[in-house]
Amino acid sequence: MPRARVGVLISGTGSNMAALLYASRADDCPYEIVLVASNVPSAPGLALAAAEGVPVFARDHKGLKRAEFDALIDAELARHGAEFVALAGYMRLLSPAFVAKWQGRCLNIHPSLLPAHKGLDVHEAVLAAGDAVTGATVHLVTPELDDGPILGQTRVAVLPGDTAASLAVRVHYAEHQLYPRVLARLVAERTGPEVLLARVRALALALPAAEEKLSHGMNGFFVTGGKFFGYFLSNHHGDGITALLVKTSEVEEQAQLIDQDPELYYRPAYFGPSGWIGIRLDMGDVDWDNVEAWLARSWQVSAPKRLARILADF
Ligand code: GRF
Repeated sequence: MPRARVGVLISGTGSNMAALLYASRADDCPYEIVLVASNVPSAPGLALAAAEGVPVFARDHKGLKRAEFDALIDAELARHGAEFVALAGYMRLLSPAFVAKWQGRCLNIHPSLLPAHKGLDVHEAVLAAGDAVTGATVHLVTPELDDGPILGQTRVAVLPGDTAASLAVRVHYAEHQLYPRVLARLVAERTGPEVLLARVRALALALPAAEEKLSHGMNGFFVTGGKFFGYFLSNHHGDGITALLVKTSEVEEQAQLIDQDPELYYRPAYFGPSGWIGIRLDMGDVDWDNVEAWLARSWQVSAPKRLARILADF
């Protein structure tokens, strides 16, 4: 399964970026870091990322309007195929256009138990308030500062005699544990088989008289009183593939498609000889228009004639 592509934005040390990066080295980590970008060219985290072979981008934001600078960052993210953005000590407010574009796919880490102590000088505020417990929060980025839906938190005890600096050290430990875990969970939720199945199901069941049932461990979609027109499979027989099987009109077409795009199409075991084709859903960006068109065609060849006429006007 290809891993979700994450761009990280930093302005300073980048220890959270490092935590995300080293966590991504684990075989089972569902994301990879494809870019580390900064508005501070001297940010120490950039040198670390570069030394680890991660593409870096640095540009001083001075002299550029917020939206202009964000458009530069956005273009870099696009150039590296980023699907998610992790802010890790990125000390700039983002423009509304950037936040809107990345909504649901942009996270931030904040060194307090939000909603307590938003903004800067957090550890000083915790000590001034006499809090017994503080911590770290990962949340989705929304237009309001440090305000988006909370994805995860870790509590950190405040010790007698703590200073802002001593507290910051322990909160950093907590952050480094929390951020990779929450990011991994978010990308798995957004790109995992359950999400793909939900999308396929919505398209398949929108077709006339379409129903679903489990068949040989796969989610099968069939026409009432007719045949199956689609199967969703994920790691079937342990092959690690997530795909949709649909019916082509003939075996020659199946061969042609595989020839044209062998990354996307494949000949499925057992089903292949009767003209079914596999469409990979785990190769990154899924072309959902193509999936929808295939489901409709497959429905057409599987539906009883009287129903198939309906789809012509559907
Ligand atoms: C972290 O405490 C993070 O919560 C805050 O900025 C700090 C960045 O530290 N947003 P680092 O650069 O990741 O070491």
